Amino acid sequence: MIADTEIFPGCTLVRHRAIADARGALVALEAGREVPFGIARAYWVYGVDPASPRGFHAHRALHQWAVCVAGSCRMRLSDGHEWREAVLDSPDLALHIGPMIWHEMHDFAPGTVLLVLASAPYDEADYIRDFSDFEALAR
Ligand code: TYD
Repeated sequence: MIADTEIFPGCTLVRHRAIADARGALVALEAGREVPFGIARAYWVYGVDPASPRGFHAHRALHQWAVCVAGSCRMRLSDGHEWREAVLDSPDLALHIGPMIWHEMHDFAPGTVLLVLASAPYDEADYIRDFSDFEALAR
């Protein structure tokens, strides 16, 4: 990791070390090293219409590590008090989204592939999908 930018406590933009040579570049992530949680699940989002934002939820307990391995998107983030943004526009940039961070993904560039590593299996009960509920829980 080269530089971290804290967006909110528990939500950090991380620049990974890319191992680059004449053949291209490689980024490697290991649980407990670059990624500060055990990885129980991976999923990726692709083929997104640039006009179709996604996300619009927070998690009660889940940690996620999001990387645009191709393309870019804009993350709109809230801790329930303030809104901030982060742009994922490089395969060596990751956003750690900890619990109780509202996240929305906007402005997907054509061809974007958003890879997410998650700390637990999919569990709908961990989602907070209503922003008013989230704000109340965050208070
Ligand atoms: P959704 O939460 O709407 O995606 P996004 O956060 O990108 O807006 O999930 C889309 C669908 O995929 C929904 O039916 C739930 C399902 N899903 C799984 O089955 N497993 C998963 O790990 C994830 C993230 C979603």
